[in-house]
Amino acid sequence: MIQQLCYYCSQYQKIIPDYPLNPGTKFTDPITPRCELHFQFKCDSCGIKKHFSGVGWCQDCNRYTCVGCADELMIQERFLIYEYYYSIPCSGCGKHLPALDFAEIALQHPIQFGEFRPSTEFVLWIPTGSVPTGNPFPRSAELIPKGSLPLRLDTALDSVDVWDKIAPTWVEDRLNQPDLNHRYIIIPEVLKLLGVNNGEKVLDFACGEGNIARILAKQGVLVTGIDPSKMIDYAIELEKEDNFGIEYLKSDSLDSFLENTFDKAVCNMAFMDIPLIEPIMAEIHRVLKPEGILVFSITHPCFNIPVLNPVKFPWDSERNEDRVYMVDNYYNSQPSIYEYNGKKLQYFHRTISQYTKYCVNAGFSIEAIEEPTLSDERLIKNNPRDLYLEFSRIAKFMVFSVRKKLIK
Ligand SMILES: C[S@@+](CC[C@H](N)C(=O)[O-])C[C@H]1O[C@@H](n2cnc3c(N)ncnc32)[C@H](O)[C@@H]1O
Ligand SMILES: [Zn+2]
Ligand SMILES: [Zn+2]
Ligand SMILES: [Zn+2]
Repeated sequence: MIQQLCYYCSQYQKIIPDYPLNPGTKFTDPITPRCELHFQFKCDSCGIKKHFSGVGWCQDCNRYTCVGCADELMIQERFLIYEYYYSIPCSGCGKHLPALDFAEIALQHPIQFGEFRPSTEFVLWIPTGSVPTGNPFPRSAELIPKGSLPLRLDTALDSVDVWDKIAPTWVEDRLNQPDLNHRYIIIPEVLKLLGVNNGEKVLDFACGEGNIARILAKQGVLVTGIDPSKMIDYAIELEKEDNFGIEYLKSDSLDSFLENTFDKAVCNMAFMDIPLIEPIMAEIHRVLKPEGILVFSITHPCFNIPVLNPVKFPWDSERNEDRVYMVDNYYNSQPSIYEYNGKKLQYFHRTISQYTKYCVNAGFSIEAIEEPTLSDERLIKNNPRDLYLEFSRIAKFMVFSVRKKLIK
């Protein structure tokens, strides 16, 4: 039998010629065999075994702490095949610990103190002098396995029923922890394109629990929010408490509004949740005043669910650069289903040209198409695993601004 070598030992040896190659006897996937040193370590806080690059060890407490149990910092420093490491506060004493990949070259790894003994014979590399740096992120694309494809449906589920069921969890999640994407990437772009003025009448279509409606109302806008699911019940409750002057309607129909009613309309992150949007676009066009704009945001049709499959390589890695994306099934418009906290979430994928056709057919002219990203260094640093090397690589969202032409 051919002896398989540790994936990490092999990567490191490309940069440090005398790095010893240990056998790869541990697996999280079929293509990256790993030695014990480069496998997983059990966190003493959560008890979960984690990839070695996401675990720190404290010599004082003899404790392992993982990135899931503490607020890690991202320290930019080139070493081995990397350009940064996680610095993790010890769950015992709070002292910051380098993750075990960096600890190994800094001579702070538990193996170097005799606290970690591999069960098999092991060749330990002891760095002498300075550690060479090299090309980070070596990868072999042909080795990447196909990710799991989303579940596709032949007939769509009732979208209102889907959202009725998700509403309590969705709203609770939003109240507990504002979604980073919405807060820092999508909403700022939507507001910028919408450019509201005091006293304008704005329609918030599929307003959900009303986050956009409230932001606009605080800016002196006369907001009407409409949504057919239980999501709007939360918006109505909040309105009773806060009296923003927002008018809410639990419906999916704009029948009750006369034409030329609103100065502007917004539809935030909802069209991909709705089965038929052509008639909605036509209706929004009708109730807008001439020259009025509709601003809508969607998940990016090319680089988001369901055409995108993220694959981690190795799959347990806590590092974003080990995530590769595969795009597939762009023209497949079958509804797809995802799990969201144990509930079903349904997506209706449309191509970019379908979206533009729907706008044009409804009588809109397209003024802007934006693909917002995150540029705030501070935020990226504070959320390294969520944001670092994420938004600089692909566009996750699209925001359209379209205008009702004077003559259709
Ligand atoms: C992702 S939420 C977005 C909510 C809100 N705009 C926001 O930014 O948080 C999608 C919304 O689409 C609504 N929705 C589902 N089916 C719909 C339909 N057929 N017509 C109008 N809205 C629908 C849901 O009730 C849900 O509130
Ligand atoms: Zn190894
Ligand atoms: Zn943990
Ligand atoms: Zn400690």
